[in-house]
Amino acid sequence: MKTAVFVSGRGSNLQAILDYRQGKKSIEVEAVVSDKLNCPAFEIAKRNSIQAFSVGSKDGYISYEQLASSLSELDIDLIVLAGFLKLIPVDFIRRFENRIINIHPALLPSFGGKGMYGINVHNAVFKSSAKVSGATVHLVDPDYDHGKIIAQQCVDISDVKSPEEIAERVLDIEHKILPYIVGKFADGKVKIVEDRVVILD
Ligand code: GRF
Repeated sequence: MKTAVFVSGRGSNLQAILDYRQGKKSIEVEAVVSDKLNCPAFEIAKRNSIQAFSVGSKDGYISYEQLASSLSELDIDLIVLAGFLKLIPVDFIRRFENRIINIHPALLPSFGGKGMYGINVHNAVFKSSAKVSGATVHLVDPDYDHGKIIAQQCVDISDVKSPEEIAERVLDIEHKILPYIVGKFADGKVKIVEDRVVILD
């Protein structure tokens, strides 16, 4: 299965997918896409000889329309948003219906939506005094962090002393749950049954 991974920064989730595919050859990362002209995640792409695209409306960027054509030419089956901070245009989502997933560092539908990214999420979770947090993989629809939930995994945060501690524990989970779900897509084991997403064994 051919994937394109959309990033905005560090790229640790991209690296987790690349590490996972050592044992899961059915996953290919054919492209890395960012809303930036350069970012640490592009260094990961370069090291792995993966082509990189910068999408946006400024000079030097390609448009979402051009990106959609390039990804279609690459026969991309699944688009993985891994820290991509921009809202994906509706036309682009429609073109890749039910084939765009996102990883969110909290248990949606709580602590999601516009502005809820990175440490903002963990600050809100910490301030709420929540005893568990976790990561969510979901299908992407036109709203932030809103599409059907595919998988979640929670972690005990009852003993944390800072939002940064929450971020660290949740990131560990992200690095496991995201590659695992990409693998399930590669195996054709993610289905929508009666309006719910089901992962087949
Ligand atoms: C992750 O915490 C992810 O949940 C959020 O953005 C962060 C990306 O981190 N959407 P990285 O760039 O994959 O290290």
